[in-house]
Amino acid sequence: MSTYTEEKRLTAPDIRSRKGGLPIVMLTSYHAHTARIVDRHCDVILVGDSLGMVMHGFETTIPVTLDMMILQGHAVMRGSRRALVVIDMPFGSYEASKEQAFLSAARVMKETGCGAIKVEGGQRMSETIAFLVERGIPVMGHVGLTPQSINAIGGFKAQGRDPADWERIEADARAVADAGAFAVVLEAVAEPLAARITGEIAIPTIGIGASPACDGQVLVLEDMLGLSPRVPKFVKRFTDLGPSIDAAVEAYATEVRARTFPGSAHVYAMKKKTT
Ligand code: KIV
Repeated sequence: MSTYTEEKRLTAPDIRSRKGGLPIVMLTSYHAHTARIVDRHCDVILVGDSLGMVMHGFETTIPVTLDMMILQGHAVMRGSRRALVVIDMPFGSYEASKEQAFLSAARVMKETGCGAIKVEGGQRMSETIAFLVERGIPVMGHVGLTPQSINAIGGFKAQGRDPADWERIEADARAVADAGAFAVVLEAVAEPLAARITGEIAIPTIGIGASPACDGQVLVLEDMLGLSPRVPKFVKRFTDLGPSIDAAVEAYATEVRARTFPGSAHVYAMKKKTT
């Protein structure tokens, strides 16, 4: 008799059912090894298109391609077992038509085995979200600051500081919920507005620089670890790994230059001992 019991992965409906309940913990990851750690503590792992900036050093998420998302999505699926893995649809892969969105999203889901995808945009994306959901693709929405529209917005700016904008942002969140999304990210949305939207819509809100009243929170892993050179003001650094990595690399370089680092001779000696 086998005693091996496979842990069941969380699903989009599991996350949907957490509205108003236990807060949803979400972090980004783009690699198998960090996914393994994040998986132990989080409900949702987002393979965000922020990987364009974090992994590839781009200034924005605009250059990210579907192939890049699929490659890193694979890695995260291999590294995780329990969390729901959500993969971002990159700029240009879903906005032209609902058919284009379906073909791109279906490719992501077939090739990675992830449990859901995320798209940016509120009212303008509601028809597409409904089309995807009706065809079996769980969708997470993303409103407020939508970084893929950075060239139109004119910068990474907080949204809803002027109450005159509240109605539009609220209508965006409502449209995403009504279209059938299972959750929605509220990015850089003014605190009272994010709290109001959370109380108003039927699906969980996941805040990033929004409000502690949201049903869950998300951060970019490298930002909260102190590994990103520039981070938004709202990011809390839970540790500062940059200097420790710098010190370790410096120590290694010093040992190599002083010829005190064992290198392959060490490995060779170990191999000899075991044969
Ligand atoms: O790409 C990303 O990491 C994101 C989060 C900031 C929500 O979309």
